[in-house]
Amino acid sequence: MPPTPTAVAASYDAFPYPAWAFWFTHPNQLAVMATLFGMEPAPPERCRVLEVGCAVGGNLLPMAAAAPESQFVGIDISAVQIDLARQVAAEVGLGNVRLEAADLRELDPALGPFDYVIAHGVFSWVDDDVRAALLALCRERLAPHGVVYVSYNALPGWHTAGVVRDFMRLHAEPFEDPRTRIEQGIAIVEWLAERAGRVGDDWRARFLAAEVDNARSLPGTTVLHEYLSEDNRAFYFRDFLALAEAHGLAYLSDAKPWDMWIENFGPTIAETLGPVPGLVRQAQYLDFVTHRRFRQTLLTRDDTPLSRRIDTAVVERFVLRSLVAEAPDLVGLETGAPIRIGNPNRTPVEVAGVIPRLALHVLHRRGARDVPFDEVFAALVAELDARSLGAGRTDTDEALAATRKDLHRALLRLFFGELVGFSVSPPALARTVPERPRTGALQRWQARHGDAATNLWHEHLPLSPAARAVLAHLDGTLDHAALAALHPEPVEETLAALLRAGMILA
Ligand SMILES: C[S@@+](CC[C@H](N)C(=O)[O-])C[C@H]1O[C@@H](n2cnc3c(N)ncnc32)[C@H](O)[C@@H]1O
Repeated sequence: MPPTPTAVAASYDAFPYPAWAFWFTHPNQLAVMATLFGMEPAPPERCRVLEVGCAVGGNLLPMAAAAPESQFVGIDISAVQIDLARQVAAEVGLGNVRLEAADLRELDPALGPFDYVIAHGVFSWVDDDVRAALLALCRERLAPHGVVYVSYNALPGWHTAGVVRDFMRLHAEPFEDPRTRIEQGIAIVEWLAERAGRVGDDWRARFLAAEVDNARSLPGTTVLHEYLSEDNRAFYFRDFLALAEAHGLAYLSDAKPWDMWIENFGPTIAETLGPVPGLVRQAQYLDFVTHRRFRQTLLTRDDTPLSRRIDTAVVERFVLRSLVAEAPDLVGLETGAPIRIGNPNRTPVEVAGVIPRLALHVLHRRGARDVPFDEVFAALVAELDARSLGAGRTDTDEALAATRKDLHRALLRLFFGELVGFSVSPPALARTVPERPRTGALQRWQARHGDAATNLWHEHLPLSPAARAVLAHLDGTLDHAALAALHPEPVEETLAALLRAGMILA
């Protein structure tokens, strides 16, 4: 028997989900992906957003705080979580967000349409009936050129993870208390992993140990819902899309650019799978290669015209930011020899050619800053000339036009390698630390209540004790001397780190 809505609500009431912000669900990112594929999405600074299963508002409230002219609705079946979210919204003074404790099947019909609908961590973790209702809701309440974000557990990865889940559930059956269920569930898999490692060459040893590591790295509430709850259904990408299509929705793109670019996965994979016809079929092959277990898919209405061939000049509509931590190597730049650039949580990406390498260098030198395309182009041309690389690239109008096109292509490649970020409406961040620095009211609230905050690029960042002490007071009234009294660490260093982290407003 599937759990009743009351039982689902009670489980999340008892164990609220951790407040976390996900950059790849932000309207800015959804608008970038939609623009790349030929849509005209609503501007993130003036749009209507619905988040389904918003829990305590960790994702929705920072969005709302940063876009006062947009309207936000968050719905969750757990009244306890919605109450927590409402308290934060009230304390921070958010007037543009409505939070509803309701089953998604009963969302007030007067609400909508929405330009962006976000459902992170919901689709796989509810029963078939709620799942179908979620897709129906997404389609019915979506405005023309609207974008839906849905994440779900994926196959084939969950076939193997499912073994661990099934064993945990079996062993946790006799226990009522959720904490005991978590401890017992993990302990039995840990025991099996250890035993498999000791006894002969059991092929399961490494996979079980990795699964235990994963479970131990997650908050208890996530372990509960991922491994121990009644509902957790994984889907092949194609099957997910078939369900979405049956509800009048169409595949737009993946939410994270990296996931869609086959060359990110290495030359042998690109050569073998490159010829597979069709975007979806190719992606499905790739999921087998990577043994994928989680997916984040963007959908739109099936009456929205999409263009699968990206017009590379579209990058001129974006503002650009380097995501690379270390300065790219310039050795061998004149020949455009390939270099490999490390990327947090990703395998290194190969960047080859004079223009792509120099574009990354130019952007990296701007630091953690959003830079308009024209500024990047001007800096690139200046660098080419300064390095005597301008011949055939900058010396005639035709050469300049060709270089501009090369830059379009280079930036797209860097974007899909997640080495460069694109924005349609970047946050208004300071370029240098002001005399009386200021962050958002929500960030100050987060610093007062925990050891992590959401930066203005909507990334979830842990805070050092010094950053926390200072951030909590950045309301634009205190000067550096007053801020220095808040923590023994040198305040200029703390402020510089907060500036780089995208926490200080202009
Ligand atoms: C796994 S949590 C994800 C929370 C949050 N979106 C995140 O990813 O951090 C799933 C959320 O969906 C909510 N939920 C489950 N069934 C629901 C329903 N029928 N209607 C509305 N919300 C529901 C739960 O209360 C819970 O907060």
